[in-house]
Amino acid sequence: MSQPKYQSPKGVHDILPDDHLYFSFVKKVVRHHCRRAGFRRISTPIFENIELFNRSIGDTSDIVEKEMFVFESKSGKKFALKPEGTAGVVRAYLEHGMQQLPKPVELYYIEPHFRYNRPQKGRYRQFHQFGIELIGESDPAIDAQIIYIAHRINQDLGIADRLTLQLNTIGSQEDRKQYKEDLINYYTGKERSLCEDCKRRLHDNPMRLLDCKKEDCQILASMAPKLETVLSAESKEHFDLVKEYLDELGVSYELNPMLVRGLDYYTHTVFEFWSKHEGAQNATGGGGRYDGLIEEMGGQATPAIGFAAGMERTIEYMKEAGIRPPNKDKVAVFVAQLGLVAKRKALPLINELRDRGINTVGAVGKSSMKAQMSLADRLDARYSLILGEVEVREGTIILRDMERGSQETIPIEGIVDKMTELLGGKALSDKRLWEE
Ligand code: HAM
Repeated sequence: MSQPKYQSPKGVHDILPDDHLYFSFVKKVVRHHCRRAGFRRISTPIFENIELFNRSIGDTSDIVEKEMFVFESKSGKKFALKPEGTAGVVRAYLEHGMQQLPKPVELYYIEPHFRYNRPQKGRYRQFHQFGIELIGESDPAIDAQIIYIAHRINQDLGIADRLTLQLNTIGSQEDRKQYKEDLINYYTGKERSLCEDCKRRLHDNPMRLLDCKKEDCQILASMAPKLETVLSAESKEHFDLVKEYLDELGVSYELNPMLVRGLDYYTHTVFEFWSKHEGAQNATGGGGRYDGLIEEMGGQATPAIGFAAGMERTIEYMKEAGIRPPNKDKVAVFVAQLGLVAKRKALPLINELRDRGINTVGAVGKSSMKAQMSLADRLDARYSLILGEVEVREGTIILRDMERGSQETIPIEGIVDKMTELLGGKALSDKRLWEE
């Protein structure tokens, strides 16, 4: 087959109808768990002033250094497509005076994000995240609750068994001052064994050296001083309680002192969900506390914690686990007609069936019965209703059971009720349909 003239740009994908079955299902599960826990949905713009991301995610992070889609307005202002959701949510929280709301403020989002990285399996230039942010509480029980919600979502999507929860604390900003010095001292003299990224980061952001994926860097990282040794009593206690609460909630975790996360705003608890088969490369989601970010962005010091997961990766793991989301697109009734009189009768019937909540397709543009019935087969319709001139004259309709291959001629009167009953549904009014 020859290549089509136009193709989507590298690393971005169409979401075709079969994949939307998964997207819709994931959204539904996420919405359900978020609502149950008091979270309300927020959407922030696709692009923001570039400084917002530089400041919050950090100048030396991979995202800011290499992965942002940056563009300039005609007046020369610089913007970036959002690479993640937390920065925009915090900006909106401050901009819209949400500090005045009762705490905690609980927000969730389901949004596209953009990162300019090398496309590969599970890594795209446009991807979708669902995320939750809880602002205004510092209690370690909240950390455990947030992790629990993420875990429950994974459970309901059928992928929890395929993932491990990696857990660590990176302490407070104070704790890390001393630790950064210890790390710089440790790495000084060993620079030759480091990759270029790590060499460059050693003085600005030495903790990032701990989660470099390059083999030589990992060997050095495994022997580096541990943050544990400089954690304050408060930080230790916070983390001990998070672990205790997770035990209480029955969520298992692996302690991973190398987990530091790639964004600068984190403090204390950090976590990621890794695939048991692919390890760190393709985490489905991650998050942590960011107690310093709101103040950093000009607000009052306010503790916060959040989490986000990649929808494409989540869906890949669902597919690997053999999870099939319910197919709400399935055609229940196909209405076929022959002749002008029958077509006139078929049109309102199609709409009445649809209004009753029955997925109905009518091939009113096709003329031959053969073409219509072959379409009904291809659509895998559960039933067909067939109207010809004879049926119209006699006030009947042919009901064909497509699964059994049997058919009968029945009165057209009451046919919508009959189809509702056959499909096992209740008679729904329009209003109820919207509420469903
Ligand atoms: P993150 O770890 O950078 O965290 O991204 C969360 C998830 O988004 C990843 O685990 C991954 O599944 C997905 N993801 C990231 N980049 C890509 C990509 N290029 N292609 C496909 N999927 C990708 C954050 O973004 C933080 N904002 C999470 C957070 C919320 N922390 C506190 N609140």
